[in-house]
Amino acid sequence: MKKTTIAAGAISAIAAALAILAKSKEKTVERNTLRAARFRQPRRVLIVGATSAIAQEAAKEFAADGDKLFLVARNADKLQVVANDLSVRGAAQMETAVLDVNDTDRHAEVLARAADSLGGLDVALIAHGTLSDQPACEKDVSLTLREMQTNFLSVVSLLTLLANRFEAQRHGTIAVISSVAGDRGRKSNYVYGAAKAGVTAFLSGLRGRLDAAGVRVITIKPGMVDTPMTAHLEKGALFASAEAVGKGVYRAIVSGQEVVYLPWFWWVIMTVLRHVPESIFKKLSF
Ligand SMILES: NC(=O)c1ccc[n+]([C@@H]2O[C@H](COP(=O)([O-])OP(=O)(O)OC[C@H]3O[C@@H](n4cnc5c(N)ncnc54)[C@H](OP(=O)(O)O)[C@@H]3O)[C@@H](O)[C@H]2O)c1
Repeated sequence: MKKTTIAAGAISAIAAALAILAKSKEKTVERNTLRAARFRQPRRVLIVGATSAIAQEAAKEFAADGDKLFLVARNADKLQVVANDLSVRGAAQMETAVLDVNDTDRHAEVLARAADSLGGLDVALIAHGTLSDQPACEKDVSLTLREMQTNFLSVVSLLTLLANRFEAQRHGTIAVISSVAGDRGRKSNYVYGAAKAGVTAFLSGLRGRLDAAGVRVITIKPGMVDTPMTAHLEKGALFASAEAVGKGVYRAIVSGQEVVYLPWFWWVIMTVLRHVPESIFKKLSF
């Protein structure tokens, strides 16, 4: 048998074994979480960008655990539909606020309202985002800056306020949906990628700062996910469902992970991509 055939066989066997291990770990975390849910106080969970398809799937898991939710989104009608659905699914308390995240002057007021109405915050998930139109951004500075505002600066504003609140209370979990796009800038997507790289770097520093206060900071890096954000893209084998990724977000929050690729195989893909020499990377078409 040729060496390349043996190597290919070994790689697929390792990948299959890793997939089985990951699945059994997910099941254990789900079982433990369900068991723990019966004996604990409801979590007080804030979700910004709560109408996002991924956030909705994560929120369904918190609702099923009987947690208290404060949902923030910019579209009042969509927000109401999501809130009604999560109430039916078991949320112990349901509060909402309408906010365009680019209205940063209102961030402090909305976060204070969330904490007041839930009696404090245990978990904050930031999920909003827009997939930038790269060719349009290249021709329009103001559009590029708006994308940076939505995907990076609004997150920085929310995180700065949340960090101070969580640091003072000395507990809690802050999770943000960044992206694998932030791991390396690609020519087809570098405006969005740069904003997410900023988010990832900010979270990395914040994790270090808040560790002493016992506050967990989680960076979630999905690969390609089938949601309204990617509705215009052709779906290939690497696309995951919003449900699978949303459940992964929930698992990361309840299980104590810090940097999470969803699905997990994106860690392998991005590790390889990060090591491709610049002279080759710049010629790749994606
Ligand atoms: N889908 C993917 O392939 C993928 C991959 C990696 C990372 N992500 C990240 O995952 C997160 C969730 O995205 P998704 O895939 O679930 O897409 P989605 O369903 O389109 O959700 C995006 C959400 O962001 C909200 N949003 C956008 N601009 C806003 C603003 N100015 N103020 C308030 N809310 C705003 C949208 O609100 P409206 O409903 O009002 O539009 C929507 O709820 C994002 O951070 C995204 O960057 C997605």
